[in-house]
Amino acid sequence: MGDRTFFVGGNWKMNGLKPKIDEIIQFLNAGPLSDKTEVVVSPPTIYLDYARQKLNSNIGVAAQNCYKAESGAFTGDISPGMIKDCSCDWVILGHSERRNVFGENDELIGDKTKCALANGLNVIACIGEQLEEREANQTMDVVCKQTKALIEKIGDNWGKVVLAYEPVWAIGTGKTASPEQAQEVHADLRKWLAKNTSETIAQNVRIIYGGSVNAANCKDLAAKGDIDGFLVGGASLKPDFVKIVNAKE
Ligand code: 13P
Repeated sequence: MGDRTFFVGGNWKMNGLKPKIDEIIQFLNAGPLSDKTEVVVSPPTIYLDYARQKLNSNIGVAAQNCYKAESGAFTGDISPGMIKDCSCDWVILGHSERRNVFGENDELIGDKTKCALANGLNVIACIGEQLEEREANQTMDVVCKQTKALIEKIGDNWGKVVLAYEPVWAIGTGKTASPEQAQEVHADLRKWLAKNTSETIAQNVRIIYGGSVNAANCKDLAAKGDIDGFLVGGASLKPDFVKIVNAKE
């Protein structure tokens, strides 16, 4: 089995003005955060620099999105280089809200992933099915298609990618996938990756789960063999996030 360091990401989405951000930074810096877990938080773009300067260095920082070009006439967007310039090393790409609210497709997400990796960023690449797709037994078709669109763009940079399985029906709904449901998708995805990339990549890539993870359900999810961490939304704004970071202890 691969040596997969547990990874917990906190996606703050479009939440928090400076007083709230200060409060989150305070509980994150106070921890204690397990040194066996890699922790990365993702503030809104405008606060990336602010948060990076105040957070302890053991906590990584991710942008929530970026564009597929290094610079140019793309009003309102940011480049991977700008994220790096703010001393942040990660970007979340393909989040279901980018896909479903902002209409991003597999091709654009693939191009963004390629550009981010080429500029030295690490990528949290998100995939996940909608409720109708799960009910129609299409979960694996959907997540494999989304992942397939990334394979060529990632090339030999899999060491810089974390895959986040976030079933859309579980995001912000309080309806978590059961540990068994999440484990099943993660294990099947790992098998699919072994066939479509290599056994080494499949064993080493971290597949994290996102969707209504909280302090009460994180330990049971973390106990599953193919769940290598979490991408947390709502609960990452609360001190409970520290408990989620330490779920594996
Ligand atoms: P919630 O934890 O609020 O369900 O959000 C999950 C998510 O979308 C993380 O990226």
